[in-house]
Amino acid sequence: MSISDWFQKYQSGTPITLLTAYDAAFARLLEMADIDGILVGDSLRHTFYGDTTTVTATMAEMLYHTKAVRNGAKNAFIIADMPFMSYHTSIEESLKNASQFIQAGANAVKCETRAIHVSTIDRMIKEGIPVMAHIGLQPQYLNESGSYNVQGKTDDQQKQLLDLATSLADVGTFSIVLEKLASSVAKKITTQINCPTIGIGAGPHCSGQVLVTNDLLGLTPNFKPKFLKQYLDGEQLILNALKSFKTEVETNQFPTSDHGY
Ligand code: KIV
Repeated sequence: MSISDWFQKYQSGTPITLLTAYDAAFARLLEMADIDGILVGDSLRHTFYGDTTTVTATMAEMLYHTKAVRNGAKNAFIIADMPFMSYHTSIEESLKNASQFIQAGANAVKCETRAIHVSTIDRMIKEGIPVMAHIGLQPQYLNESGSYNVQGKTDDQQKQLLDLATSLADVGTFSIVLEKLASSVAKKITTQINCPTIGIGAGPHCSGQVLVTNDLLGLTPNFKPKFLKQYLDGEQLILNALKSFKTEVETNQFPTSDHGY
């Protein structure tokens, strides 16, 4: 997958698929499943590190996980999430940080974007770093918004979102994540801009969909937002396997002579 395949899919009207991975094992599975893109999301602060916020993600951690994902998925299209405050202080700092992700194996970076970031993103794209924007609910701004509520409820907020998405498409972002917006708002943005939208909790009218892999596999059982579809009871399946190992070792069923040398 490359950016041009991504655009071909968008132009053909086939929804684009994006899922998260933080390590080589899951990256390999996503590549085998032919998922269009792998996002090394800062959601790893929740799923991998057990934290309650994504604000704590660091450049060092995100680079470490990006390298692991590239090792597991040699040919996949990989997007690395830029952590909080890694593209905010200056263009020089933003370019330095974004380029480290490309050197670590990512094909593109993702930025939770406000209007103030558009010029930085423009510069990154001009320097050859493909950027996916992320608007609507932005977990990195939780301290300000105070909740994970649906965004874009008022006419004013909807206009701001549409204006932001339009200016991002104009500077050449190759896609925009729309998180937790009413379906009607996501539809309006998707039909009015010239750039694929990737929804999470934004309804069926986006150009593609993204989920956190751990959520869809049922590995985060206490997280049940309305937008999530759980495709597997992963926790139960893994628990069963772990308990079987314990029982079989304790009852001398494993290992047998078949497992010895
Ligand atoms: O960090 C992440 O995994 C994300 C997705 C939920 C879009 O930003």
